[in-house]
Amino acid sequence: MWIKRYVKLSLFLLFLFLLLYNLIKGDIMYVNNKILVGKNDKKEVYLLPNMANRHGLITGASGTGKTVTLKVMAESFSDCGIPVFMVDVKGDLAGTAFMGVENENVSSRVEKLKLDGFKYDRYPCVFLDTYGKNGHPVRTTVQNMGHRLISKMLNLSDTQDSVLAIVFKIAKDENKPLNDLEDLQSMLNYVSQNKNKYTDNYGSIATQSIGTIQRNVIEFMDKVEDNFFGTPSFDYNHLINTSLETGKGRISILDAQVLFNYPDSYVSMVLWVLNSLYDNLPEVGDLDKPKIVFFFDEAHLLFNNMPKAVVDHVIQVVKLIRSKGVGLYFISQSPSDIPNEVLSQLGNKVQHALRAYTPSEQKAIKAAADGFRTNPEFDTKEAIQNLGTGEALVSFLGEKGDPNVVEKVTILPPQSKMGAITEEERKMVINNSPIANIYETRTNEISAKEMNEEEMNKINEEKQEELNKKEQEKLDKEAAKEKARQEKEAAKKAKNDPMRKLGKKITGKATDRIINRFLNRILKNFK
Ligand SMILES: Nc1ncnc2c1ncn2[C@@H]1O[C@H](COP(=O)(O)OP(=O)(O)OP(=O)(O)O)[C@@H](O)[C@H]1O
Ligand SMILES: [Mg+2]
Repeated sequence: MWIKRYVKLSLFLLFLFLLLYNLIKGDIMYVNNKILVGKNDKKEVYLLPNMANRHGLITGASGTGKTVTLKVMAESFSDCGIPVFMVDVKGDLAGTAFMGVENENVSSRVEKLKLDGFKYDRYPCVFLDTYGKNGHPVRTTVQNMGHRLISKMLNLSDTQDSVLAIVFKIAKDENKPLNDLEDLQSMLNYVSQNKNKYTDNYGSIATQSIGTIQRNVIEFMDKVEDNFFGTPSFDYNHLINTSLETGKGRISILDAQVLFNYPDSYVSMVLWVLNSLYDNLPEVGDLDKPKIVFFFDEAHLLFNNMPKAVVDHVIQVVKLIRSKGVGLYFISQSPSDIPNEVLSQLGNKVQHALRAYTPSEQKAIKAAADGFRTNPEFDTKEAIQNLGTGEALVSFLGEKGDPNVVEKVTILPPQSKMGAITEEERKMVINNSPIANIYETRTNEISAKEMNEEEMNKINEEKQEELNKKEQEKLDKEAAKEKARQEKEAAKKAKNDPMRKLGKKITGKATDRIINRFLNRILKNFK
């Protein structure tokens, strides 16, 4: 009897041990609470999850391995239970949702880096797409984006900004939803046409400023793609999620193959998501691991040709969002694509190869090398130019938050499928997603535009009625006048009628004769 119990207990303990072992050991890339990213003969380079909110940078010339590096890092963050958001520029990140397949690039790396226990894996991914074609639609409303961000995107002056703030306030006070840019345009029109009504409560509203804002909205409408604004608005909480089955952080992949033709949409989207997180997440300081990590590929779009106010805003967000437990990783060809104020905030750096054909490229290499803490074993500038594909100079932050000395390493291979996926595979992921059918159908709610149109129609109808009434009164008055005139005329006519005169003459003579006869009779009596 006791032997049976002993065996049962042993089996239970063994099961518990295996469970715990798997949980603690996790993946080979996520070992002892450290994320292994690259290796050389002597050293292993780890990213510390508690330093992952100190942001990062992945740079390198075209085809040097940036996207695969971000994929490797995203997989490890997910293994670590950290949700990830990444922007997929070429459609080559979607494979993360599927188990990796035997591949020379991967197997040679596994062998070279002696990655015992390497296994292919798949990750809990959610596909997003502002067009709603390659993923669940992501959109927001003008109101959710808020007057401050819209004002920055429209490149407004301080005066115009305060007028826009009033327009937003009026819309809110009158319960007129600003869902898309047409609603905003309508609200600007409406306030401009009725500005006297608002001056007492909202202060003076310069018509000239409204005119400029309207022109900027029209320009912005051309630059931003139609689908971005509308309802239902995407709930950013859907990004901060872990898989219930595996405990892995959910990886939200924004398909940006079309979106990249609209840098204003891309920037609006990025700023809106980050702003929502910044406004709503509590202050947490440094956590054991971030609440979410973002990877922004083609990050130069966030800064190039953007109004200064937008760039300043991105810089501000980068500086502040860290304390909310959010890590931001920028991916671009050269560090010189990123403003210095942002660069100085990016603690975890991966530099792939850069080429030095032109003086400006040489300058970029020098700038990239100067950003690292030098390693006495090699010359950083030279090393950057001689890195092979999937090799990189890496420096992550150490336990105390100081950058480690730069190391030259081979980046680990990804565990999930590299490259694009088929239409069927994509559909499968979309249909099985935890947010399936929430955002698919765009709703056409009554918003500011329709409400203003109705109100203006009513006002116009009332005005028309008033006009009609006045017109009728005028007509009535004229008719009365005409009647009086006609009567007078008729009377005058009648007075001058010869028949009447003759009549009067005849009647006059007859009367005279009667009076005379009467007087003669009286006089006769007196005689
Ligand atoms: N860590 C790696 N493990 C395995 N293969 C890799 C790795 N890094 C790069 N490669 C190989 O190199 C190819 C190019 O890498 P990747 O697409 O990441 O370059 P990139 O710098 O993002 O290029 P682009 O600037 O054109 O987007 C990959 O398709 C893959 O075959
Ligand atoms: Mg790439």
